[in-house]
Amino acid sequence: MKTILGKVISVCMIALLLTVAACETSMTKAPTTMTTTTEAITIAKIYEIAKQTSGFTWYKKSDALLVRNGKSGHIEAFQRTRLDATAAMMLDANGKVKEGSVFAEGSTIVKELVNADRTVNGYAVMIKRKADPSADADGWVWGYVTASGAERHPLSSKGNGCIGCHSIAGHIDRTLMNVSNP
Ligand code: HEC
Repeated sequence: MKTILGKVISVCMIALLLTVAACETSMTKAPTTMTTTTEAITIAKIYEIAKQTSGFTWYKKSDALLVRNGKSGHIEAFQRTRLDATAAMMLDANGKVKEGSVFAEGSTIVKELVNADRTVNGYAVMIKRKADPSADADGWVWGYVTASGAERHPLSSKGNGCIGCHSIAGHIDRTLMNVSNP
């Protein structure tokens, strides 16, 4: 039979256990959330995103292949660009990027690079992920993959090799479709 003191101790133990349990839950949750936001996106994930078309809007509402022009740093004969729902919030009624736009976190823009024989040769991708270790000063992660998903330009370069061109006059938050395909 338990003494009064025994009962008090049992109650205290239960209270202590509950506190520890609650504390553990909050302690394990916090770092998980933190890893999600600052996690470095992988080339494999970029490749997966690059191949998606559903939920994306084509620049100027057209999936027509656009002929490469003099300003393009992308060697393929044709290209076309699509924007995910977050990035597409910056498009006007004609499907062009609005002047002065600053793309929101998560915005994803995929440029399909297409050979003269109309086969896809690769993808150039820009994703706004401000806390990603591969992000540049504007929060863009620059991905470049071949048609089979191999890295074509190092993610870790943080867009070094891309940004120079993407900063020419008329760029909108470093995007150039409006400049080369007005
Ligand atoms: C020599 C200049 C040049 C370089 C270098 C360059 N780009 Fe581009 N990029 C362009 C131009 C111009 C466009 C607009 C479409 C077109 O005419 O090809 C463009 C379009 C894009 C787009 C479509 C979104 C938009 O409107 O800008 C993405 C995504 C992209 N480039 C990613 C990259 C990545 C990633 C790199 C580096 C690995 C890179 N670019 C390097 C010139 C360049």
